[in-house]
Amino acid sequence: MCVVEAAGELTPSTSPYPIKASIKEGSEIMPSASLHSLLSNLLFPPTKINKQKLERQLAGKTVLITGASSGIGEQLAYLLSEMRVHLILVARREAKLLAMKSDIEVKAAHVSVFPADLRDPKDMERLLTFLHQLPDGLDIVISNAGHSINRSIRESLDRYHDFTRTMAINYFAPVQLLLSIIPLLEQNQGHIINMSTVNVMLIPMPHWAAYQASKSAFDTWFRSAAPELNTMGIATTSMYLPLVRTPMILSTAAYRKLPAMSPEHVAKMIGNAIYTRKQTFKPWWLIFGGLASLFFRTMPRLSRKKGNGHEDV
Ligand SMILES: NC(=O)c1ccc[n+]([C@@H]2O[C@H](COP(=O)([O-])OP(=O)(O)OC[C@H]3O[C@@H](n4cnc5c(N)ncnc54)[C@H](OP(=O)(O)O)[C@@H]3O)[C@@H](O)[C@H]2O)c1
Repeated sequence: MCVVEAAGELTPSTSPYPIKASIKEGSEIMPSASLHSLLSNLLFPPTKINKQKLERQLAGKTVLITGASSGIGEQLAYLLSEMRVHLILVARREAKLLAMKSDIEVKAAHVSVFPADLRDPKDMERLLTFLHQLPDGLDIVISNAGHSINRSIRESLDRYHDFTRTMAINYFAPVQLLLSIIPLLEQNQGHIINMSTVNVMLIPMPHWAAYQASKSAFDTWFRSAAPELNTMGIATTSMYLPLVRTPMILSTAAYRKLPAMSPEHVAKMIGNAIYTRKQTFKPWWLIFGGLASLFFRTMPRLSRKKGNGHEDV
């Protein structure tokens, strides 16, 4: 059985916010100029969060976070750690999830760790069985696990598997998960929050065909399903995220110098979405979509200059 409920055997991690270590490493090569922080504040104005409202909304509820071992999912788990909530953390890295459980359970939340590769049909089946056996059902799903690949088409000619593996985690996994648990969410009048990307609303960027096609596929699925889900009493939120400074972007050198949101900021936006149940969150500048597309389309050129256009990120 891969669900870990006991906290006794856990190895404590050195910091409750391990992501900060990687951000700090990356930040050594970021310009420290005040212009950078001014631009960041302008592009990503701070999000207010009403912790009392969040607490009231979450009390006694069960929240599933996929992709909880890193970046946005990890920061969300820590944000919710002070709430009386049952967190189910899913990702492949069991040791990391166990360390998080150990950090979080000294606070208020109860944590179940479920190590799983969501592309693996057996792991998915075990997760679904576990979710269907929850005594109080399921209230909130944060559909967050994802994988991105930055590679040119020329370098992808013998890499069809890049396209199948991004579709596997970014499209088929959340579709399979949600199809199975929609009845549970309907029973509890629950909420699904999807981590989408601003790029699905812009002109597609070169070098990101695999990632963008898979993120667009799920975004379209989710937007198409949303009115039906809403009729069942299930709230839906699509979060259109800009660049977020997580391990996902660390291997793209050009991104390290660009303004990016912090994963702590995104966690607050998700917290806000949990009690407002707003349907979409997107940056204010997305209304200037054409201009934004132009800005993002220059990135691969920057990326090529740095000679790193082909990492998985
Ligand atoms: N960072 C950005 O700039 C950005 C922008 C827009 C949207 N997003 C979206 O935000 C979400 C979170 O990304 P992030 O930036 O926080 O990235 P991250 O730090 O790389 O985290 C990705 C998470 O997904 C999990 N994951 C990946 N493959 C998995 C698999 N096969 N099975 C189970 N879990 C898997 C990883 O855990 P394991 O490795 O332990 O499995 C990890 O916890 C993604 O959906 C991403 O597309 C990110």
